[in-house]
Amino acid sequence: MDKETLQQTLEGHFKWFHRHPEPSNGERETTTQIRRILDEAGIEVLDVNLKTGLVARIQGTKNKPETGIERVIALRADIDALPVTEESGLEYASENAGVMHACGHDFHLSALLGAALLLREQREDLPGTVKLLFQPAEEGGGGARQVLASGVLQDVNEIYGLHVAADLPPGLIAVSPGATHAAVGSFKIIILGKGGHGAYPQQSRDPVPVAAQIVNAAQTIVSRNTSPFEHSVLSFTHVEAGNTWNVIPETALLEGTFRAFSDEKLAWIAHRLEQVSRGIAVACEVEIDFSWEMCTSATCNDPALTDFVIETAKARGLETAPSVPGMGGEDFAYYQKTIPGVFWTIGVGSPQGHHHPGFIADPAPLSTAAELLAALAIAGLQRLSCN
Ligand code: NI
Repeated sequence: MDKETLQQTLEGHFKWFHRHPEPSNGERETTTQIRRILDEAGIEVLDVNLKTGLVARIQGTKNKPETGIERVIALRADIDALPVTEESGLEYASENAGVMHACGHDFHLSALLGAALLLREQREDLPGTVKLLFQPAEEGGGGARQVLASGVLQDVNEIYGLHVAADLPPGLIAVSPGATHAAVGSFKIIILGKGGHGAYPQQSRDPVPVAAQIVNAAQTIVSRNTSPFEHSVLSFTHVEAGNTWNVIPETALLEGTFRAFSDEKLAWIAHRLEQVSRGIAVACEVEIDFSWEMCTSATCNDPALTDFVIETAKARGLETAPSVPGMGGEDFAYYQKTIPGVFWTIGVGSPQGHHHPGFIADPAPLSTAAELLAALAIAGLQRLSCN
């Protein structure tokens, strides 16, 4: 398939998916459409225990290994959209009220479909197997963990995934070794005081000043307890107490998020936040209920494979740059815990940032993304089959 035909085909798919966004774990129409396109191309869809999303497979016909152990590379795209009302003004804007592909997952899955079409054509050059993973529920719905639990990736040697970058020029490939997306934690602190009359505070244990002290004191965890060379952030995003002007409430609630570039650092921040909160609670004679959870691990790009991605991109004449790390989370990190892999980005020059109602991914680099995914699978399998 020549580049122009590929680009036209993928733009058609991309616009269809952009019109029909579906939320995490609700990607039914999306999955049906992906399956239809793969079926038409004669690409095998595996029988995997997933409610939405799917995994396809292309088995190469070159150099079957004598050991019988097939080399496998996985290519991953996420497929879910966000609860955002689109204001892009595009003629192919969302037709599903209150749902929008505002993070470019429609671009990712269309590029992966393109890679599938290319790899299907080049099966004779493929010394191994490629698994094409159309992952559901990346936006906080546990998609990567569902896929891992299905066991479909157990035989995979390497994994590659892509994400569009709103603020990079269309087609620029940005990738760096190590962590580029943060480990994400959420926390909840319930302060259990004693309510009473606003005029007689001595008869109560007011949770409100306790909440205020915790919010203030916690600011020093990042600014005073953390090395300026280690990136981390802690934000209180939900503060709630009381419901009227003359009653001291029983309880106060604090919620928020904290992020760092390693799981260990994340756990350490949680530990400090709990210590600080409990110390203030003791001083103020209130009880505290502290809980936190790790929502996503930090991504971790394998250094040697990152070099391989850069070389493969350059060999195709593509411009590359180091990626800009961000404090956003990405559940691709879960694959990287057991499978060496690289999460790379491609510029799409959006006028607005990710998750914004005016986010627009330029479809022009779709064929470039598809070709690079396919090239990574082919060159990766060639390298693996030589080892
Ligand atoms: Ni995303």
